[in-house]
Amino acid sequence: MTWFMVAVVVVVAAAGLLRWRRPAWYWLTFGVLVATVRVLVRYASVMDACGLTVPPSRWRLALARVANRPVPDSRIPRILRLRPTRTGLVLRLKLRPGQDAFDVSAATDRLRHSFGMYGVTSREVRSGVVEVRMTGYDVLKQVQMPAKTDTRPMRVPVALREDGSVHYRDYRAVPHGLTLGATESGKSVYQRNLVAALAPMDVALVGIDCKQGVELFPLARRFSALADNPDTALELLEALVSHMEEVYQLIRAEQRISVAVPDAEIAADIWDLPDDIRPVPVVVLVDEVAELALFASKEEEKRRDRIITALVRLAQLGRAAGIYLEICGQRFGSELGKGITMLRAQLTGRTAHRVNDETSANMAFGDISPDAVLAAIQIPAETRGIAIAGDSTGGWHRIRAPHTSLRQAVNTCNKYADRTPDVPALAAYRPAVAALPSARVPLSKTAPATA
Ligand SMILES: Nc1ncnc2c1ncn2[C@@H]1O[C@H](COP(=O)(O)OP(=O)(O)OP(=O)(O)O)[C@@H](O)[C@H]1O
Ligand SMILES: [Mg+2]
Repeated sequence: MTWFMVAVVVVVAAAGLLRWRRPAWYWLTFGVLVATVRVLVRYASVMDACGLTVPPSRWRLALARVANRPVPDSRIPRILRLRPTRTGLVLRLKLRPGQDAFDVSAATDRLRHSFGMYGVTSREVRSGVVEVRMTGYDVLKQVQMPAKTDTRPMRVPVALREDGSVHYRDYRAVPHGLTLGATESGKSVYQRNLVAALAPMDVALVGIDCKQGVELFPLARRFSALADNPDTALELLEALVSHMEEVYQLIRAEQRISVAVPDAEIAADIWDLPDDIRPVPVVVLVDEVAELALFASKEEEKRRDRIITALVRLAQLGRAAGIYLEICGQRFGSELGKGITMLRAQLTGRTAHRVNDETSANMAFGDISPDAVLAAIQIPAETRGIAIAGDSTGGWHRIRAPHTSLRQAVNTCNKYADRTPDVPALAAYRPAVAALPSARVPLSKTAPATA
């Protein structure tokens, strides 16, 4: 008996310790079992308490009256499936007549408390069927991406959503993206994750980093072209526009439409071309975009106009030529001058890290979802990297990218350096990576001597 007591105490202490220090391990060992039993045992009473019941149907009432039986109980949604996951539970419910998906989504906070879970979200799967996703712990506190993800060409896992699912950046579904956020909110880490995820793929990476290249130049071995100042950025963007025109010429040459060509074989974008002649897709990453739109003199203004025109052209026409834009900045509104709102309208995939004011959040979500604007402002300053991301269905999620350090990203880029494709039109902007910075000379020795 004493041994049994000791064993129980040890197990309880281990569970408590795990729950405190390693919530993910606790969930996989004890949590999932405890939560499953709790949900199944409490299900009926919780649904009743949360107002997710419907009164018995007329025919059941009539039947009870005829048979002289007691009045039947209210009915609760039927559980179609209860699936444990790495981070929580997924409950699929069949709604009763008279209920809708909004009833469930309005009750998610009550369900969260009643089932003792960390977070509960719901979405409609099809008419009458709702999926309730519950998380057992704060999955965004320390992001761990699952080992197996559903990666496809031009679709990469980039962050974890608060419901425990993986957030993908799918360039073929949402070609262009805009990432906003105050300084130190995690934009560059998000972009670094994208680079690391794209590195093993057949894709050319092009970077424009007007912060003197501090974010993207260390990853240069995997980049086909890089620019670290607005002048080079302009030349690079104009070279990209001519690359885009060449790709369109190629697609046109391949079309050769005649009555004999089946509809499915008419090429309208690079993905319809045969593998052997398909140009490599290009992802253009721009960090600190406002630097490209600011000017102090007449000359710089001309340059700025040409840069914005090139970006707008790439955003409008680039998709079919396999050119995708990924733009990062602190703000991206009309105060940056003409052409900016036009460019913004083309950037479908929106992500907002912590912002300091509502206008900045509005630049990302004002025209999409007012709830998302509010959620972006409420991100606490201490949880860097948390962001609100719009999805292709018009909804939004809280996400956080794993904290990939610059060193990890550099290692990944170096590992896949041989996959860096040559894009002839951009050859002049290929970073010279062979010459590594030799000795670390202290700044004082290199600075010109002052009298
Ligand atoms: N996903 C994350 N998880 C944990 N920490 C993060 C995450 N993203 C960012 N951070 C922390 O926040 C710091 C700032 O991030 P980052 O450099 O990406 O900010 P930024 O938005 O690009 O800032 P700036 O506008 O000044 O360039 C990082 O050094 C890192 O410590
Ligand atoms: Mg940055």
